[in-house]
Amino acid sequence: MFDRLREDIAAIRERDPAARSAWEVVTCYPGLHAIVLHRVANACWRGQWRWLARFVSQIARFLTGIEIHPGATLGRRVFIDHGMGVVIGETAEIGDDCTIYQGVTLGGTSLTRGAKRHPTLERGVIVGAGAKVLGGFTVGAEAKIGSNAVVVKPVPAGGTAVGNPARIVMPAVSKPKETKSEGFCAYGITPNADDPVSLAIHGLIDHASTQTQRIDDIVAALERLGARVEALNAVDGAALVDLKRLCTSMDGKATEERVASLER
Ligand SMILES: CC(C)(COP(=O)(O)OP(=O)(O)OC[C@H]1O[C@@H](n2cnc3c(N)ncnc32)[C@H](O)[C@@H]1OP(=O)(O)O)[C@@H](O)C(=O)NCCC(=O)NCCS
Repeated sequence: MFDRLREDIAAIRERDPAARSAWEVVTCYPGLHAIVLHRVANACWRGQWRWLARFVSQIARFLTGIEIHPGATLGRRVFIDHGMGVVIGETAEIGDDCTIYQGVTLGGTSLTRGAKRHPTLERGVIVGAGAKVLGGFTVGAEAKIGSNAVVVKPVPAGGTAVGNPARIVMPAVSKPKETKSEGFCAYGITPNADDPVSLAIHGLIDHASTQTQRIDDIVAALERLGARVEALNAVDGAALVDLKRLCTSMDGKATEERVASLER
């Protein structure tokens, strides 16, 4: 229990630039108080003490302004920042390392009792202030929900959804982070987004990634034409764009016709 509390405090200090000490976090962060009380409420809920669970949850709401249904499932190091007005529904599931700002609703759109009515947030999702995520769908790992967005459809891992109804403005361009230590962007913003050097480097990375994809497509096309895969793997990336050189690695059947079909 104390291990959990320690990692919750560490997570808050890591993710909130305003947190100056562990003591400040323990005494002044309603998000932490709400999560600790939710653990009590959730234990009661799982022990079939449903009324007591609801009652503890309502005490937590009275003290913190954060309403978490005792049936909701929260992962580790979940951080509810500020927290006032947050509502988390009964069948919501929140993965490890998610961050939720004030005024967020993880709500339902169906009245079917027993059904999965509320969203699932996978690991590392950031939900901006005032956002509403409504329905029993999944928001993929490391996705970002803009402040005041109204999300009614699944969000892919690593994507950014903004607006009402929310649209995906930035699809995932890279593999989501594997560990929490790989860096957290406070408030979900992309650091150095306007820095020209950063933009140039991102441009180069995008270019390299596009080229890699094209090379993969060329290799796949060559394989369809009967090229020897081992020979192709030995060819370096630059050589792959030279169609004639590539065709010499083909299984003794390099012809003008194949070159022409590749060029098409
Ligand atoms: C959505 C968010 C995560 C995107 O941050 P980012 O990755 O840095 O992306 P950008 O700021 O470059 O924005 C990308 C696009 O989305 C738009 N956008 C960003 N946030 C938006 C929002 N909340 N609502 C509507 N559009 C938004 C931008 O205008 C931009 O559009 P453009 O490409 O047409 O110019 C961030 O803006 C956000 O809302 N974070 C939550 C912050 C928060 O709740 N803070 C509370 C602290 S108490």
